[in-house]
Amino acid sequence: MTSDPAATLTHVTTLPGLFLSFEGGDGAGKSTQARLLGDWLTGLGREVVLTREPGGTELGLLLRDAVLHGDHVDARTEALLYATDRAHHVASLVRPALARGAVVVTDRYLDSSVAYQGSGRDLGADEVERLSLWAVDGLLPALTVLLDLDPVAGKARLTGDPDRLERAGDEFHRRTREAFLGRAEAEPGRWLVLDATRPVDELASEIRSRVATILGVAA
Ligand code: TYD
Repeated sequence: MTSDPAATLTHVTTLPGLFLSFEGGDGAGKSTQARLLGDWLTGLGREVVLTREPGGTELGLLLRDAVLHGDHVDARTEALLYATDRAHHVASLVRPALARGAVVVTDRYLDSSVAYQGSGRDLGADEVERLSLWAVDGLLPALTVLLDLDPVAGKARLTGDPDRLERAGDEFHRRTREAFLGRAEAEPGRWLVLDATRPVDELASEIRSRVATILGVAA
């Protein structure tokens, strides 16, 4: 928790693997960058687990459908559905992978809840962070890459019918973006903030070099 970062970081360092997350608005290119990073890490001979929230597990897929397409989901229910998805994801997939020494790369993690439900929905960032940290027993990524994008530009990149969150409106998405940037600024050691409008290969190379530094290998 922010008030006692050492307590939560203990959980990270006791596991032999490496936990990385991607964050940002819809349409920022997170899944492309997660895949490119995963390919590079696999080439280094690491076991890589590429996953996502919501919906990284079988139960998570049911929760994903409920939260993105369900009717009459109020803000607290929404926050709890994301937290439930995350608790199960971490307990059943992320922690076991980290325990065997894998690199886990997740497309979204708890910072999405703090930004979308805490600030976007106005439930309060601190409370949603506490809920999320409880759900995962304090597990935080070693690095979180924020692909920062003006939500108006992000919307233009989306294809298909918008889900409940994508329909939430410009002001909601503006608050969410500010929340991500604020969290990154408050905890620079965990975050890498990149302008998502830059070319894909340039972004991939910056991400690789930061991860290389953490792993102590050449980028
Ligand atoms: P995502 O899978 O990234 O969207 P897509 O597959 O459509 O690109 O996430 C789905 C939506 O859920 C996205 O709008 C962000 C939102 N979200 C939250 O509001 N809170 C959360 O904790 C998470 C993980 C996602």
